[in-house]
Amino acid sequence: MGIRMPIKVCRDYNEMSRAAAEIVADHIRNNPRGILGLATGSTPEGLYACLVEKYKSGELDFSGIISYNLDEYYPIEPDNEQSYRCFMDRHLFDRVNINKANTFVPDGTAPAPDAFCRAYDEQIKAAGGIGLQLLGVGRNGHIGFNEPADELIGGTHLTELTESTIKANSRFFASADDVPRHAITMGIDNIMNAGGVVLLASGKDKHDALTALLNAPETPHIPVTLLRRHKNLTVLCDEDAYYG
Ligand code: F6R
Repeated sequence: MGIRMPIKVCRDYNEMSRAAAEIVADHIRNNPRGILGLATGSTPEGLYACLVEKYKSGELDFSGIISYNLDEYYPIEPDNEQSYRCFMDRHLFDRVNINKANTFVPDGTAPAPDAFCRAYDEQIKAAGGIGLQLLGVGRNGHIGFNEPADELIGGTHLTELTESTIKANSRFFASADDVPRHAITMGIDNIMNAGGVVLLASGKDKHDALTALLNAPETPHIPVTLLRRHKNLTVLCDEDAYYG
């Protein structure tokens, strides 16, 4: 593959999850009051399970950590099981000693989403910016919910999900009709401004997006390719995603 960037090709999903957890754990140990940017979806579930294990065995302390999630469906109630707030509570926040008041997920009920988005960005900036951002990648190359477009938006914003994303995410809902059509997502500048980015890609479904990141010209039509400009990007993938 073409462009040089730190990439670790792991044998399988479990190995990738463990490798990612090591990076996050090191970051937390070195920055006990650090700010994490977190992602949801199937990809980081194993990573969060590894972090919970590390917490339970006394290796990790989340008490000083602050977190900002990348995105949330809109509209959605925080107690809807498919909300990203519920996902985070279920997989991480309720299982470690993080202070829940320091965990931020975009508000899927915000009555004025634009004002909410501006406030989210200001809050992240005032907190000192994201130290380490975790990312998955969509089959179409989206990161967060920055979907393929002629131009990507810099800050947190309300966005319309593409049909392919609605279809991909319908696996979590009773039917595709139940998937919210919009989401609030951090923008490309939020991601690029993070001190470090760890991108995870697992499974054959992600082969095209990963290949584009490693080989294709940079284009907003494959948002993940913009990450190449990040000075501190680490890519972790499994063999299925790498070889297809
Ligand atoms: C989730 C997110 C999305 C996912 C992507 C991949 O917070 O921002 O970009 O990372 O849709 O989802 P999975 O991991 O379910 O394949």
